[in-house]
Amino acid sequence: MFKIPFLDLPPLRGAAGTVRLPGSKSISNRVLLLAALSEGRTVVRDLLASDDTAVMLESLRTLGCAVWREGGDVVIDGLGGQLRAKEAKLFLGNAGTAMRPLTAALSLLAATQGGSFEVSGVPRMHERPIGDLVDALRGLGCEIDDLGNAGYPPLRLRGPSTLALDTPVRVRGDVSSQFLTALLLALPLVAERDIRIEVIGELISKPYIEITLALLARFGIQVRREGWAAFVIPAGSRYVSPGEVFVEGDASSASYFVGLGAIAATDVPIRIEGVGSESLQGDVRFIEAAAAMGAEVKAGPNWLEVKRGAWPLKGLTLDCNHIPDAAMTLTVMALYADGPTTLTNIASWRVKETDRIAAMATELRKLGATVDEGPDWIRVQPLQRWQAAVIHTYDDHRVAMCFSLAAFNGLVTTAAKPVRILEPHCVAKTFPDYFETLFGVVSVDVADVPVITIDGPTASGKGTLADETAKLLGFNVLDSGALYRVTGLAARRAGLDLDDGDAVAAIVPTLQLRFADGQVFLGQEDVSARLRAEATGLLASQVAVHPQVRRALHQLQLDFRRLPGLVADGRDMGTAIFPDAALKVFLTASAATRAERRYKQLISKGISANIEGLRADLEARDERDKNRSTSPLEPAQDAQLLDNSALTIEASVDQMLAWWQQRRPF
Ligand code: DC
Repeated sequence: MFKIPFLDLPPLRGAAGTVRLPGSKSISNRVLLLAALSEGRTVVRDLLASDDTAVMLESLRTLGCAVWREGGDVVIDGLGGQLRAKEAKLFLGNAGTAMRPLTAALSLLAATQGGSFEVSGVPRMHERPIGDLVDALRGLGCEIDDLGNAGYPPLRLRGPSTLALDTPVRVRGDVSSQFLTALLLALPLVAERDIRIEVIGELISKPYIEITLALLARFGIQVRREGWAAFVIPAGSRYVSPGEVFVEGDASSASYFVGLGAIAATDVPIRIEGVGSESLQGDVRFIEAAAAMGAEVKAGPNWLEVKRGAWPLKGLTLDCNHIPDAAMTLTVMALYADGPTTLTNIASWRVKETDRIAAMATELRKLGATVDEGPDWIRVQPLQRWQAAVIHTYDDHRVAMCFSLAAFNGLVTTAAKPVRILEPHCVAKTFPDYFETLFGVVSVDVADVPVITIDGPTASGKGTLADETAKLLGFNVLDSGALYRVTGLAARRAGLDLDDGDAVAAIVPTLQLRFADGQVFLGQEDVSARLRAEATGLLASQVAVHPQVRRALHQLQLDFRRLPGLVADGRDMGTAIFPDAALKVFLTASAATRAERRYKQLISKGISANIEGLRADLEARDERDKNRSTSPLEPAQDAQLLDNSALTIEASVDQMLAWWQQRRPF
């Protein structure tokens, strides 16, 4: 995926429809590790495809596990507790759900079978504490070297060494529940006798331990527990693959759509598929918090439906220890409430992908909100006077997803403001298609969807400039010339007289046009290459003179104006089709330059060409486009002129972005 530097969300107005959630991150990475430690083959269905699962899969491969894809499934042949690689360096990105359990499992395997393993991650990973887990493992007799700051990754795990399993393993439970999860997942590797784990301090995020216990049970390990204070892995425990595992949808990811329904689904609910009342994940209890804020929620076994209930939402005070990740969403919902919202018992936010209390407070304030914070709490006041804000995301997927809900400010203020999300690709950690999924269920005033038009004569480089600009902004592209080209081609194939405007216009509604991945399909046929041919360009310019044809293609072009924005190139984009475009550019280059570019293009494709002939063709086409009576080629009055004869593509794109930035409220 191309990484765009920012994504601008225009004011969003409503929500309705169905989303299918990607697989749960917590379940996915636990299942992958359990499958790898088990004997036998496990087929994992609906696995989350994301950065965090990718690093886990890659690590398992490095450790000698056979892992492959079959259709949408991932198949793993487990190691059966036997190391195949005795030395490895594992890079785990910013995936806590990979770092902690792999550290535990590899420490124990190195101790019993010998080996040396290095685990490391991105710089932020090296700031996320792991000392409590390391202490517990060292207490057992594992040899662990700090390769950076003591108590933080990177680490070296080596062996053999002698394990002392007859005394209880003691681990702190009040910083991250992942330390306990890591031990629970890994200690069955060495359970020749009962192994007792004792939790020091009040265990946080208990629902995540429930997920761990439920999945261990699926893999044949029945952990006994004494409240939340002690856990016993019975002697003789062995991982046994269940053969097949279905991964639930991610309940934390559901929170954005629950919030969306509560804020914006005024009529038809938002239906969320993949989580529901039977989910293992504690974060489904986010629906109780949303309901307390006013959402109307219905739940089935693996689905939720959410609509707006109370409006404005109701501010509340809530202990969020049981829903640490999903609770972040409440802080943005709080902006739409009738009074303050206070979330307590959330100290773990400070050691996640970023310091999430600080991050949410800082970014909410940019929108204009009043926010107070303490070591383990945050309070957010409702917001009336919204500001257009540039949201830093701190490489934290949840910050990015949460702030998309700020784009609904037009529901509470007449002066609706867009929201800019920096580095939006960070959502790939758990939800690579988040924004596309969101755009699929929200409504917008079409006038709010920004359009950039690029008009100009043939071979001036409009297409390239439009594509590059759109790529950087994450916008859609309309190559309007392709519509005229396809019309010309279809008219010629149908044997029509190209001077008969009515006849040519009449075939437009019958065209079975489809645009996919930069290709154009007419019915089943990929006509992209045909469309680019010089001869087709001439057909296009012939049919384009007819007002009937231009009218017939009008709506089709307007339909390209979709979230999050559009770059449209052609001859009359800024004058006739999108007169309200926020930025209009008229691109020119000398006839000599354009003929030369076209010549090089053709030669590089192995098509012979004559530069003089090309120039004559271009000039003839320019004349026809300029002198026709409807929508002649001319700059819009408010267009920026850009002569790119002497400019590189990069320089032209930079100029476009500079003009665009001048028109933005940020
Ligand atoms: O941009 P292009 O070379 O693909 O366009 C082919 C012809 O289509 C061009 O000569 C004129 C016509 N056209 C038009 O009239 N209006 C547009 N918006 C785009 C193209």
